Amino acid sequence: MGKDVVLVIGANGQVGSALIPRLIEIYGNYAVIASDIRPNIDNLSCRFLLLDATDPKRVYEAVNHYNVTIVYHLAAVLSANAERSPVAGWDLNIRTVLNVLEVAKTRRLAKVFIPSSIAVFGPSTAQQEAQQFSYLDPTTVYGISKVATENWIFYYNRKHQLDVRSIRYPGVIGSETIPSGGTTDYAVEMFYKGLANDVYTCYLKADTALPMIYMEDAIRATIELMDAPKKDLNIQSSYNVEGISFTPSELAQAIKSHIPKLKVYYEPDFRQHIAQSWPCAINDQYAAADWNWKPNFDLFNTVKRMIEKVILELEKKTN
Ligand code: SER
Repeated sequence: MGKDVVLVIGANGQVGSALIPRLIEIYGNYAVIASDIRPNIDNLSCRFLLLDATDPKRVYEAVNHYNVTIVYHLAAVLSANAERSPVAGWDLNIRTVLNVLEVAKTRRLAKVFIPSSIAVFGPSTAQQEAQQFSYLDPTTVYGISKVATENWIFYYNRKHQLDVRSIRYPGVIGSETIPSGGTTDYAVEMFYKGLANDVYTCYLKADTALPMIYMEDAIRATIELMDAPKKDLNIQSSYNVEGISFTPSELAQAIKSHIPKLKVYYEPDFRQHIAQSWPCAINDQYAAADWNWKPNFDLFNTVKRMIEKVILELEKKTN
C-alpha cells in the first residue's frame, strides 16, 4: 500500500468503529488517522483527531497536515434524526460532503469513499427489488441528502477526474456500537435490549421487510470496492449492495431460536413511514459484475454471530 495515509471522518460511528481496525490491518496503525467531532473513548491503536467536518478549513488542514491520500467520509445525520431536524440534517450531510470533495480536488487525493444509502429510494422504486437505475424520489431529508451526495460524487468524478467511490448501504447490523438516529437501528437494538432484558419493543410493524447487511459483509464490501481496479467500475455515483432482507418478526424468530424467553412487542412510530418508503430488497447485479460482490452472511449466521458478540459486550459492561 506504499505511502497511503487514510483519514476516517466520523470514526466513532457505527461503520467507523468497525472499519478502523480493518484499515489498521491493511495500512498499519501509523497510516490511519481516525477523526470525529466527539472524543473517542475506545482504545484506538491509531492516531485520533477531533475534527468538525462542517468546517472546510479544518478538513483541509487535517488532510494537509497528515499528508492524507485516502479519505473515508462516514459522518452523517441518519434518517430518523434528520426528520427531527431537517435543515440541520441537510446542512451537515451536504456541507461535509462538499468539504471533502473540495479537498479531494485541491489536494488530488488518490481515493475517497462516501457512503450513500437505501434511503435514496422512494415510492417510484419497485418495492420487491430496487434496481441500480431506479427513479430516485426519496421522501426523507436523509434520502434527499444522499441523492444529492450521489450527484455530487458523480459530478466531481467526471468534472475533476477524481476517484470517489460509494455504496448504498442497507441497514447495517453490528455489535460494535448501538446505533442511534436511523430507521434500521431496531435490528441492533433487538439484540442488545432483548439479551439484556428478555423483552424488546420494536418501533416498526412486525411485517416491515428492509434490506440489511451484517457488519463484516459491509466492511468487506467497502474494502473490496475501494480495492477494485478503477477501469472495472461502471457506476460513478453509488453501487446497490444487497446483504439480507428480513422483517422484525423474522429477526425476532431467529433470535428466539437461541433465546426462547425473548418477548418482542410492536409499537410503530414515525419511523414506520420512513421504512415503508424504502424497498424490501436490493438488486446488486452491478456490484456483482464489476467487483464480484457477494454477501457471506445470511440471517442465520448474522444472528448467531451477533448473539455471541453482544453477550461479550454486555459482559464487558457488567464487569
Ligand atoms: N441505516 C440508515 C438509517 O436507518 C439507512 O441507511 O437511517
